[in-house]
Amino acid sequence: MKRVFVRTYGCQTNERDSEALRALLQSRGYALTEDASGADVILLNTCSVREQAEAKALGKLGLLRAQKRRRGTVLGILGCMAQRLGSELLRQRPEIDFILGTEKLSQVADYLDRYFGNPGDKPSTPLVDVGREESLSGQNFPHELKPRQASAFVSIMQGCNLRCRYCIVPQTRGRERHRPMEAILDEIRQLLSHGIQEVTLLGQIVNRYGYGVLPVIDGQSPFVQLLEKLQSLDGLQRIRFLSSHPKDFGHDLIACFGRLSKLCPHVHLPLQSASDRILKAMGRLYTREQFQQLVSRLQEKVPDLALSTDLIVGFPGESEEDFGETLDFFEKISFDMAFIFRYSPRSGTAAALSPEQIPEETKAKRQQILLRALEKHSLRHKRQLVGTTQSVLVEGRAHRGEGRFWGRNPGFHKIIFDGHEELIGQFISVRIESASPAVLLGKIVG
Ligand code: SAM
Ligand code: SF4
Ligand code: F3S
Repeated sequence: MKRVFVRTYGCQTNERDSEALRALLQSRGYALTEDASGADVILLNTCSVREQAEAKALGKLGLLRAQKRRRGTVLGILGCMAQRLGSELLRQRPEIDFILGTEKLSQVADYLDRYFGNPGDKPSTPLVDVGREESLSGQNFPHELKPRQASAFVSIMQGCNLRCRYCIVPQTRGRERHRPMEAILDEIRQLLSHGIQEVTLLGQIVNRYGYGVLPVIDGQSPFVQLLEKLQSLDGLQRIRFLSSHPKDFGHDLIACFGRLSKLCPHVHLPLQSASDRILKAMGRLYTREQFQQLVSRLQEKVPDLALSTDLIVGFPGESEEDFGETLDFFEKISFDMAFIFRYSPRSGTAAALSPEQIPEETKAKRQQILLRALEKHSLRHKRQLVGTTQSVLVEGRAHRGEGRFWGRNPGFHKIIFDGHEELIGQFISVRIESASPAVLLGKIVG
């Protein structure tokens, strides 16, 4: 049996794609391995969102060159960087055997069969396929469920029709394509029959699911209709979704919070900047005031709502004053969690051409300032939970500490406690005893 090593870079969409890929490969008779050095095939599922993400995959490729020479390992590059660079990547790295774009993952096993099947079928030159698939209808990507796994990602749409001026994703992932609602529900029913209790719906702008394709019914967007249907599925305990665009967060969706009992009180709402001037230059299509109103409406529905966000510092033209506005607003909203990125120019995006690029030292300084503010707010939110008892869905063993396990409460806070293997996949009650900016520590009760 040929052994395949899969390494994933980037976001949850890529994680989910890799999971489906692993399951497909297994069903086609390939074995998966965690040991790259002993693998017959190495697949890198890559990310292009920032230069650093590409540099990581390219660095790994460099390290694999010797292995390729020694053992003849087949090297496949998949995902967003494969899509973005296509055969240009091959010119830089001739050791690559095949390059398949983001919409070609279901064909990886076919390509591999050509390397390992009939010797006459073995490709004599590297393959590059970064073509597009028009629809997601016929595509059903399997899951690779681990024993006791209780939480799963479900991609409900692909692509993005917006054009935020810093972002490469619309190019790497293509136009919006929406899965049929029944196909999503079938997938989730299957997951439930295997013991899954929590699903996270994924899409680049997940709250635009079905937009312009499926009807709005009784004022409810297709995304809200989907949430309603999930609420009524027996066995499903928790519903989450990622990522939302503030512009598409309608009243119908706000009204789901506090009303749909399975919908977790956590929203990831990318802000990017809180300077109206920069938001406009980014093409984000909302103002600071509109973002604030959205947060207030959500907090009216769920006072203890956990909020997380993405921010970019050093977008071209961002002045000290613009950054000051972002910092002020960041302090005011007091997010539970935030991913704070330094702007990375991506070739082929509008912002990369701007003459007003910000020096790296300035970006680094601004990032540090926001990270320090985040630490304070994360800690404040977590300290408020000390002394409370939280419902925790146990995910697995903690990285550090013998006998320690971790899980999440509805607000998506990571909670660590002493436990045992049988608890994985179960809901337990944990009394919170202490907090750090990143995690909560507690003891099982009851
Ligand atoms: N579609 C999602 C959205 O709109 O929020 C996620 C997009 S991207 C995968 C995740 C985050 O990466 C973005 O929210 C943004 O903060 C960041 N990002 C995207 N392009 C970037 C760039 N060129 N430089 C730095 N950060 C970037
Ligand atoms: Fe990128 Fe903007 Fe689309 Fe998100 S909404 S994927 S940031 S273009
Ligand atoms: Fe990266 Fe592609 Fe996700 S660019 S962030 S892996 S959609």
